Amino acid sequence: MNEVRANFLPSANIMVTGGAGFIGSCFIRYVLEHTNFSGRIINYDKLTYAGNLLNLEDINRKFGAARYVFERGDICDHARVEQVLKTYEITVIVHFAAESHVDRSIVGPKDFIETNVNGTFTLLEAARQFWKERTDVRFHHISTDEVFGSLGEEGYFFETTPYDPRSPYSASKAASDHIVRAYHHTYGMPVTISNCSNNYGPYQFPEKLIPLMILNAMEGKGLPVYGDGKNVRDWLYVDDHCEAIWLILLKGETGETYNIGGECEKKNIEIIENVCDLLEKMHPLQDNPLVKQAIPALKQYRDLVTFVKDRPGHDRRYAINCDKIKKTLGWIQKHDFETGLRDTIAWFLNNSAWVNSIRSKEYLQWIEKNYQR
Ligand code: NAD
Ligand code: DAU
Repeated sequence: MNEVRANFLPSANIMVTGGAGFIGSCFIRYVLEHTNFSGRIINYDKLTYAGNLLNLEDINRKFGAARYVFERGDICDHARVEQVLKTYEITVIVHFAAESHVDRSIVGPKDFIETNVNGTFTLLEAARQFWKERTDVRFHHISTDEVFGSLGEEGYFFETTPYDPRSPYSASKAASDHIVRAYHHTYGMPVTISNCSNNYGPYQFPEKLIPLMILNAMEGKGLPVYGDGKNVRDWLYVDDHCEAIWLILLKGETGETYNIGGECEKKNIEIIENVCDLLEKMHPLQDNPLVKQAIPALKQYRDLVTFVKDRPGHDRRYAINCDKIKKTLGWIQKHDFETGLRDTIAWFLNNSAWVNSIRSKEYLQWIEKNYQR
């Protein structure tokens, strides 16, 4: 069961969509630095507010054009996708590109439908026309556990759990999953799909819970907790997700779906308190000039916690069963949450140039306009 199926993969030309984002850039780094891959990666990314070429500056320098190329483009642009597929004779597509933030999908769902639904369709259609009926090719689609809906106190999402998406983001991802499956069943395209839980780690855009809390605390800003703070998410260090995707590409069965998760359920308030407590040790208040300036009387980072209005339609609990990928492909999580969180905080403390690059972008204007709390 565990044999390598995709013999063509190690020397393929792989198109990674959304490779300038958080998980996509980590995947490119992982494949080039930690696997036996000898081919070339073509990073195809539109560079929205969430895309940042600084994420791969080291990789670009280290590997050069023979192994790594960046091509700016939109997955909704059929002609441009076709051109890149042909130019590089792409045989593997690893599809990360998406609008990924739930809160943004609530404020403005249009871009989510455009990129996640129409963009995935455009990519599939261009690949179908280019690959025709070839079987030595692969389309891997990165999806989310949010397509399964919301759980009560008990139970887990399995690969067979019926879809029940509840936000514009998760509905757009669910639609894209269905279209990918349709291309397999109807046209025989060799596809695989993975549904993963909440990732965290270096380079994550600071609109997501963990990096937002780290940066806000470092700067003495409020730590906004939605609702009662008791919503539960399952957390996975981003490198473990990337390793799982590589294993699926190598050994996964086409037409199959694999759940990926941390088996690490946490309430949001626990995470925020963990971040505060680690920061007390790693960046004590008395050595933090930003906080001293902003709130001279602050006694501890935890005092920055502010309960705010709940996210509309806020899913209560996600919990994923990932026995299938463990049993059939031999994957296992390698990072425990405490070490992963400490490493993540250390990365944000030590990478102010990256943080400043994010800060200078359109994001700040957007957050000012939409998130006045
Ligand atoms: P991200 O927002 O950090 O990055 C998305 C990337 O896609 C950016 O580089 C952006 O420029 C690019 N992009 C957006 N629209 C595009 C378009 N139309 N054409 C080309 N490029 C475009 O996202 P992420 O957190 O790295 O998530 C990557 C994928 O993983 C997404 O499909 C997401 O649904 C999925 N996912 C994320 C998580 C998580 O916790 N972050 C968990 C499970 C699944
Ligand atoms: O489960 C996988 C999904 O995880 C991915 O598909 C998404 O792309 C990714 O963004 C993430 O979605 P979430 O909505 O779970 O992540 P987010 O970091 O936005 O929020 C995590 C939890 O923290 C959620 O219950 C909302 C809460 N939260 C979030 C923010 C930004 C707060 O309480 N305060 C905040 O300021």
